Amino acid sequence: MMADSTPLHLLQITDTHLFADPEGRLHGINTRYTLQTVLAAARLRPPPDLVLLTGDLVHDGSPAGYRALTAMLPQLAVPVACIAGNHDAYPGFRILADSGLRVGGTQTLGNWRIVLLNTQMPGSDGGHLQARELRLLSEALAQSPEPHILVALHHHPLPMGSAWLDHIALDNADDFFAALDASDKVRGVIWGHVHQLHESQRRGVRLLGTPSSCIQFRPGSRDFALDTRPPAMRWLTLHGDGGIDTRVEWVAQA
Ligand SMILES: [Fe+2]
Repeated sequence: MMADSTPLHLLQITDTHLFADPEGRLHGINTRYTLQTVLAAARLRPPPDLVLLTGDLVHDGSPAGYRALTAMLPQLAVPVACIAGNHDAYPGFRILADSGLRVGGTQTLGNWRIVLLNTQMPGSDGGHLQARELRLLSEALAQSPEPHILVALHHHPLPMGSAWLDHIALDNADDFFAALDASDKVRGVIWGHVHQLHESQRRGVRLLGTPSSCIQFRPGSRDFALDTRPPAMRWLTLHGDGGIDTRVEWVAQA
């Protein structure tokens, strides 16, 4: 059991967009190769306590894509928790659960509780928190004995200032923030989906969007456009007093 004052270290990797085909490419980028590059860079750092995968893990929803992911993750030799994105498929998520990854729900780490919300809407690229997920959130906020909570979801709960992307945001962000506002324990909200860096604050809660392990989207672009920034991952230190230190590590391509 970790002492309450022990800082916790998390690594977020998001939007890996793997394919069944090892040579599969997203907008010309081999996504297995970029994930491998990110994992290699992560292994140069002290191992985190938990890796968070925040959706769009497999682009084509193929079982082979999920099996490739489960074959690559043991390189990090740490527990992994994940949530689905708009590109994921549930049969694939069973493969992840069967190989020991936590899928959704909540996880306790020291005196923090990590809440993993599913915002997937089948058939849509946009996100929605169904009543079941809002209940999971509200119950975790009301009942968790831990004093600090980090909430992870795939879709962004606030506009990124990019019309095409904001069209496929979380569509009931008002319900989400109403649930958060009923608690004074939430210290941070973390997401993927946006393939770009976002850091802001709302009522003392850190709001953190994280670039992808493959391609990035151009911030502020009204229409879909790629950015030229490299693959990335986000490191977080969760302190015993509820403070969060975080930084995005951009990974140069070999
Ligand atoms: Fe994505």
